[in-house]
Amino acid sequence: MADLDGVKVAHNYYTEVPFKNNKPFHVKGANNLDWGMKKHLSNIFDETSQNTVMFAFDHGYFMGAAAGLERLDLVVPKILPYVDVLMGTRGAIRSCVPASGKKGIALRTTSGSSMLDEDLSHEILAVDIEDAIRMNADCLAVQTFIGADGQLSSLDNLSKAVNSGIRYSIPVMGVVAVGKQMERTDRFFKLATRIVAELGANIIKTYYCENFEEVVAACPVPIVVAGGKKLPEKEALLLAYLSISHGAKGVDMGRNIFQSENPVEMCAAVRKIVHEGFNDKEAFEYYQEMVHH
Ligand code: 5RP
Repeated sequence: MADLDGVKVAHNYYTEVPFKNNKPFHVKGANNLDWGMKKHLSNIFDETSQNTVMFAFDHGYFMGAAAGLERLDLVVPKILPYVDVLMGTRGAIRSCVPASGKKGIALRTTSGSSMLDEDLSHEILAVDIEDAIRMNADCLAVQTFIGADGQLSSLDNLSKAVNSGIRYSIPVMGVVAVGKQMERTDRFFKLATRIVAELGANIIKTYYCENFEEVVAACPVPIVVAGGKKLPEKEALLLAYLSISHGAKGVDMGRNIFQSENPVEMCAAVRKIVHEGFNDKEAFEYYQEMVHH
């Protein structure tokens, strides 16, 4: 273990210098991976924009029927045309998502707590790799709890998912959880995203924060930004814009889409930011036009 006394503060992020090992494959940190991994990552990240719109509807795995997701069979098909990747549980995907679609699948593979628990940080890796293969998952989503009581078991879950993912060429998306005790600072996100990437995750899902471009620069794989609690549409679009303009390679939004009064229009507006270079104002105008049309 390194001597932690007098640890120097990291500051040389060279945010203006593009990631070096970035050719010929379009996904950050994936240049040295094999064909199967790259194929799955290409199902997630668009080759032209290099970004992705993920729709997170996995909340039922600890919340039960969350507001806006009471009827997955009704909500998901409406949103489907505007997303690249569906992030959900195997139960929700198998029962409510048409198998005929061409969307990427980010399969939630960890579970073990519910809203009734004080501490949500204790999870298990609940999905066998064979079942992820049967579902043609494009990545295995694993929740991690750096700095929380369940850190060790969550990193065990992550490592097991990375080991089996490598065996069958399925990427892993490490999800950085923020608990009640965890600070939402760039210091925390730099620590957590880097640990998760170094343990082998190919994509990191985390939150937007100040100095986000430094979090991105220090993370050798693409970051997608979680939406978090429901915001007014204008603010949620600003969050998406700030994330993309500071280096995120996509968003993985849930409540800010499915709890919007106009989920389809909201998702379409987010898509404009992620893939077409719209800023938040242009996207909000687009949203309003679609709603009033
Ligand atoms: C939990 C998750 C959820 O998928 C995530 O919270 C995304 O949904 P939202 O945008 O509603 O926060 O990964 O950690």
